[in-house]
Amino acid sequence: MRRLPPTEATGLWSGARHALPTAYGTTDLVVLGLGVMIGAGIFSLAGRQAATMAGPGVILSFMIAGITSLLVAFCIAELSSAMPASGSAYTFTYVIFGEVWAWIVGWALVMELLLATAVVARVWSLFAAQMLADLGVRAPEPLAGFIGQIEGFDLFTLLILVLLTGVVALGARVGLRALWIIVIAKLVAIGAVIIVGATHFDQDNLAAIPAPPAPVEAAYDTLHSPLLGIVLGQTTAFGWFGIFAAAATITFAYIGFDVVATAAEEAEDAPRSVPKGIIRGLVITTVLYIAVAIVVVGMTPYDKIDTDAPLASAFRQAGEGFMVHVINIGAVLGLTTVVLVLLVGLTRVVFSMARDGLFPRPLAKINRSYHSPTTATLVIGGLAILLAEFVPVLTLEPLVVIGTLFAFIMVAAGVIRMRRTMPDLPRGFRTPLSPYVPIASILASLWLMVNLQVVTWLYFLAWMAFGLLVYLVYGRRKSVLGGGSPPLALVDARGRHRR
Ligand code: ALA
Repeated sequence: MRRLPPTEATGLWSGARHALPTAYGTTDLVVLGLGVMIGAGIFSLAGRQAATMAGPGVILSFMIAGITSLLVAFCIAELSSAMPASGSAYTFTYVIFGEVWAWIVGWALVMELLLATAVVARVWSLFAAQMLADLGVRAPEPLAGFIGQIEGFDLFTLLILVLLTGVVALGARVGLRALWIIVIAKLVAIGAVIIVGATHFDQDNLAAIPAPPAPVEAAYDTLHSPLLGIVLGQTTAFGWFGIFAAAATITFAYIGFDVVATAAEEAEDAPRSVPKGIIRGLVITTVLYIAVAIVVVGMTPYDKIDTDAPLASAFRQAGEGFMVHVINIGAVLGLTTVVLVLLVGLTRVVFSMARDGLFPRPLAKINRSYHSPTTATLVIGGLAILLAEFVPVLTLEPLVVIGTLFAFIMVAAGVIRMRRTMPDLPRGFRTPLSPYVPIASILASLWLMVNLQVVTWLYFLAWMAFGLLVYLVYGRRKSVLGGGSPPLALVDARGRHRR
């Protein structure tokens, strides 16, 4: 239950901590948020959920997940304005609730970000292969079975992960320039989907919100039903249950606004810029998502949506062949920045946990030439490659969501507790209407969690139990706060000793 003193979490400003160099202004943080949020969720998940779970009600699913994210974003904004530390939810929990809770949140975040990186890298490969095929480029025969694969060894997945791990390892600035350009290109593609899609909008397609409940397919057994469905004996898709189940899955699309907080140690005037970056990025994303969802279900009757390539096939059927290329290119670029920023966020969380002694120390080393946690980046990139290549990660998207929602609950509870225990800690941003907004965040996140499948809960509990074991065997003994490891030498990012 030992707690990190807030002065340690915010020690960057007093020069007391081993620091990362400043790289981001407010607008960079918004771009970082757009870079990481807009990806597989909108390019592939939206249409799939409309076709299989929510029908045209997927618009409501996007609204429900968006509102939940916005409530939580206010809470994250307050905590990161008070503790601008690269561990984000992990560090907040360390200060507010103590070490074992911090470890649990950190462990959930590692699962969230590592798995999300692997999932999005796979989806990148699917879109890259589709893009080449649609451009008439054929892969040489021996390679054809190794690109754009849903499962098994995949060359494009390997390529993107190796490339982006290299970019992150070389330091955030190199990545930042490319990020700006790619995010703009991605926004142009999304804008084109909305504008061209609106010209094919047929309001009859929206007539059935919510779509009538339908018995689910045989494969939809106990393990694959939402936890809530099992409790209430409800085994249908569509209808309101479908809308909520889709909202839970669609939370994947919003994942990333929390990652912006991990850039806090590298942000200029973090107490003000990080809250702005998080909230502005999320608001823009929510508006774009709802617009795309309306277009997708407005263009095609939901039972005719192609689950493999929902956006591209809707435009192809509408005779907009050119848009198919826009979508393919937009997705390939868009998913690139998602993987990039997820990797950056994950290295920052792992770096923070190692700095506190909970992960092995070499992971907290800042490379003197690149001013970046290069060792942590290479280890994480390696793990992401193993996961993406050898585990059927595309079936594990909901596991990413459950880990995220769990961290959201801890953050919202942290705001309530910190208002009581540390009322005088300076904050650049305050959650409006506290404690009502944090309480609403907790309830909304919990509601989405119970709408996830039973199997997701089982995997999540197993992962957390394993994590607790690792803590008991390693972290508890090695923690800096517990005296198991010495504090890091007071070295700055350039390797100079601070006074
Ligand atoms: N929100 C990110 C995506 O949808 C993870 O790809």
